[in-house]
Amino acid sequence: MAFAAPWREELARGDEELVRGLCLAAGNFSAEEVLVAVELVQERRAKGLASGYHFVFAAENDQCPGYACFGPIACTDACWDLYWIVVDPARQGRGLGRALMAQVERRVAELGGRRVYVETSSRQPYAATRRFYAGLGYRLAARMDDFYAPGDAKMVYCRDIARA
Ligand SMILES: CC(C)(COP(=O)(O)OP(=O)(O)OC[C@H]1O[C@@H](n2cnc3c(N)ncnc32)[C@H](O)[C@@H]1OP(=O)(O)O)[C@@H](O)C(=O)NCCC(=O)NCCS
Repeated sequence: MAFAAPWREELARGDEELVRGLCLAAGNFSAEEVLVAVELVQERRAKGLASGYHFVFAAENDQCPGYACFGPIACTDACWDLYWIVVDPARQGRGLGRALMAQVERRVAELGGRRVYVETSSRQPYAATRRFYAGLGYRLAARMDDFYAPGDAKMVYCRDIARA
């Protein structure tokens, strides 16, 4: 079923804790990765859009069951990176992740972007995430063996999006 959330793009008070909680609940991020996810919120709060970090939060009855963070890639012709996407485990598998990606792509297109890159790990805890991206039409653009650690490759996927 399609998820029709209202979306929030501006930061609200407490988003650092919200993001920390969602990332911890996801269960597949290291402590260091959770810190980085929170730092992206802090950067956005400190510098605004000059930080390069855009957010989409699902806003549902004063709750936020998922969010995504994305931004333009410097020195490219309109390529964007998806930095983070998380859906509360209690809400996974019901279309929110797909809806978040659609919202990200809509914003990227509005802002003149032509391609979105996502990257993830080759490790088993990320197998579902890789299937998620492939199912949304993202193609494997590069595999960088032993990138994160020996035996842990960086998997780069991308998708061309229609310009708005
Ligand atoms: C990846 C994630 C965002 C997907 O969100 P979600 O709300 O569960 O995804 P959806 O319900 O919208 O599913 C979208 C599609 O992906 C597919 N999909 C999602 N999880 C899947 C899984 N575990 N195995 C196979 N396919 C899967 C669904 O079948 C669906 O396809 P359909 O619409 O054709 O039926 C979510 O699982 C998550 O937060 N994972 C942990 C955090 C993470 O790894 N983030 C990405 C790295 S930054």
